[in-house]
Amino acid sequence: MERKKVIVTGGTGFIGSHTVVSLLEQGFEVVIVDNLINSSLDVLDGIEKIAGSRPDFFELDMQDSTRTAEFFATQTDAVAVIHFAALKAVGESMKKPLMYYRNNLFSMVNLLESMTRHGIFNLIFSSSCTVYGDPDVVPIRESNEVKPALSPYGNTKKVCEDMIQNLGRSEEGFHAISLRYFNPIGAHDSVEIGELPIGVPNNLLPYITQTAAGLREELLVFGGDYDTPDGTAVRDYIHVMDVADAHVKALNRLLSGTQKKRLEVFNLGTGKGSSVLEVIQSFEKMSGCKVPFRIVGRREGDVPEVYAATDLANQELGWQAKRSLDDMTASSWRWECRVRQLEV
Ligand code: NAD
Ligand code: WQD
Repeated sequence: MERKKVIVTGGTGFIGSHTVVSLLEQGFEVVIVDNLINSSLDVLDGIEKIAGSRPDFFELDMQDSTRTAEFFATQTDAVAVIHFAALKAVGESMKKPLMYYRNNLFSMVNLLESMTRHGIFNLIFSSSCTVYGDPDVVPIRESNEVKPALSPYGNTKKVCEDMIQNLGRSEEGFHAISLRYFNPIGAHDSVEIGELPIGVPNNLLPYITQTAAGLREELLVFGGDYDTPDGTAVRDYIHVMDVADAHVKALNRLLSGTQKKRLEVFNLGTGKGSSVLEVIQSFEKMSGCKVPFRIVGRREGDVPEVYAATDLANQELGWQAKRSLDDMTASSWRWECRVRQLEV
């Protein structure tokens, strides 16, 4: 049987690479597009080692409308696109908002124009819990209000969802699923691929693992006076392989035509909130390493408590996160050890 071809933008990145593995394992043909601004070609070796086949790769900056159009003109047999390619650092987006708008929005416009021109009518979009801002109630449902974004990055996700919604109304046949990820962490079990933050990490888990590995002196815990059980902020951490699996489910839903709306939106979380201290405790238990930490003031822009209602994704996609917080912290540590060539 002929394999169905899926274009994965940002496919050498953290979540993209794990999703590519799941797609290959499910028998899809994968073509990756990436400009390597936040990833490297070595990732293709890792994917090949795990999945036993190497996806095609095209180095392309999707901000370039001409090159993007030329690329898509050669891919008219693709059945769908999964669009991960974006800049994603919230803090950086505050300092360089136009870079974020240019990258994330121009790429999206170029992608949607090319898809519609060449009749590729199925899209999965990487959205984020950041579109909910500071929620009034948790767990957050997809039907909850999408609040004004707290960062230019978050706003690009909101505007991209709007673009898709508008296109779904104007373009007969165009279907999309927007997946709002909460806090993806962890790595593939093989530790052939994982997250490679450049420079000082902003996110909690890479900061914890780098501190345990001795690269950072201590972890600063931002805020110990939130109205949460232990005073530290609560998030919905989800294993990246659970996120990857959800993409395969979403793709099958698009391809089987079982969607209920032209644009469907699903939260991807575990449904369980964990505080910063709980994450540290889990990490220490699973790694056997101590994480020196100090509680300091709150980080600007942080919200106290965010976690997902997952029943919609459970019911409609038939998907549920399977891995626990302990699985995630253990996996993040094994990946850090692999990268730093440490004994686990
Ligand atoms: P990542 O940076 O590891 O991957 C993104 C990839 O896109 C990188 O390989 C980068 O080189 C590529 N890219 C960026 N701009 C591009 C462009 N103009 N043209 C071509 N390639 C380009 O990030 P990730 O963590 O894998 O995130 C993937 C997607 O998920 C992003 O859209 C991100 O906004 C979204 N998301 C991530 C998180 C998270 O916590 N990691 C949470 C919610 C949503
Ligand atoms: C988690 C918790 C910090 C670092 C971000 C984006 C969001 C989405 C997921 C893309 C918070 C605390 C962190 C540290 C700490 N990404 N922390 N010390 O901010 O929940 O979400 O990634 O779409 O849009 O905003 O994730 O990992 O940065 O922080 O105490 O050194 O850990 O304050 O409570 P966040 P994070």
